[in-house]
Amino acid sequence: MSHHRIRGTDRENIMDLRNARILVIGGAGLIGSHVVEALLREDVKEVLIFDNFCRGTHENIQIALRNPRCKLFDAGGDILQTDILHAAMKGMDAVVHLAALWLLQCYEYPRAAFDVNIRGTFNVLEGCVANNIRRLVYSSSASVYGDALEEPMTEDHPYNNWTFYGATKIAGEQMMKAFHRRYGVNGVGLRYMNVYGPRQDYRGTYVAVIMKILDNIEHGISPVVFGDGSQAYDFIDVEDVARANVCALKSTVPIGFYNIGRGIKTSIRELAELLLKLTGSTLPIRYEPAGQTFVSNRVGDTAAAERDLGFFWKIGLEEGLLRLIEWRKMHIEAVKQKRGQL
Ligand SMILES: NC(=O)c1ccc[n+]([C@@H]2O[C@H](COP(=O)([O-])OP(=O)(O)OC[C@H]3O[C@@H](n4cnc5c(N)ncnc54)[C@H](O)[C@@H]3O)[C@@H](O)[C@H]2O)c1
Repeated sequence: MSHHRIRGTDRENIMDLRNARILVIGGAGLIGSHVVEALLREDVKEVLIFDNFCRGTHENIQIALRNPRCKLFDAGGDILQTDILHAAMKGMDAVVHLAALWLLQCYEYPRAAFDVNIRGTFNVLEGCVANNIRRLVYSSSASVYGDALEEPMTEDHPYNNWTFYGATKIAGEQMMKAFHRRYGVNGVGLRYMNVYGPRQDYRGTYVAVIMKILDNIEHGISPVVFGDGSQAYDFIDVEDVARANVCALKSTVPIGFYNIGRGIKTSIRELAELLLKLTGSTLPIRYEPAGQTFVSNRVGDTAAAERDLGFFWKIGLEEGLLRLIEWRKMHIEAVKQKRGQL
């Protein structure tokens, strides 16, 4: 049996979500806000959102907060402030922990990455012990693997990581295992592949490739592809990722780490071509010399998540990208209207 997947069927671990109070840390972000909505659809007793809004927005959770079962922890929301964090965890049954600094932020600010992603995650784990939290779902990342040494990558693929971001996620996973062994904290770490979908940031400093391509297309500029565009990734829709979090909460796995992706590789060239097709654009792709890429090849094996968590993706790339394009259009329009009213 793999040490990454320690399976179990301990009935005590089964959580009836309908009676559960769940804290979603990082709940105002891209994935977190969709997790909040997925949990509300499960009829959970209470969803409490905890976020410091350094990247997440109030707008992301505006609709969810109309539901009386959903609340925002309003006494602050930073995982580096343990007293506040522990106060939010009090009385909760389970925690979904998504708060983190992203790849490029970690690259530029390694100490901040250490603080938020490692120390912050330690604080969350400590809070789980202090508050008898029954289950923790942690957002890890496919970044723990670095570039694929073999494909598709199973959960036993080596930690071929060379980035600060990946290092923090490996540390988070290792900390989860240590807390499980020492204090019995149960939970699952999800190694997401490349997540995209509505609410994805398209205006900030750290914008992902899909949004950059769409931005160019919108402005009538050729989308830029670096190198020959053969770098390939496993893209998964945020709705599917949110559902994976719910599956992980419901699962009985005492401790384990799972790929969350589609197991399908799409090259950046294919992605750009698809986005041009879906937006009805005839712009040619512009190829530029390869810059710095952190990872150029990655696709995850989906079998373990399906077997142990009962999770399998539903939304194909074309369908998901269409939804994203639609959302982006609506959002840009709404922002313009708002500005016009001011
Ligand atoms: N988007 C992806 O492709 C992807 C892939 C792999 C892993 N992940 C992981 O999934 C999780 C969620 O990612 P996302 O794409 O939704 O990112 P996101 O930046 O939209 O969400 C993270 C949230 O955490 C909050 N946060 C940051 N620092 C905090 C702190 N100190 N205290 C409290 N809240 C804080 C942010 O404000 C934000 O709302 C992250 O842990 C990320 O590393 C994402």
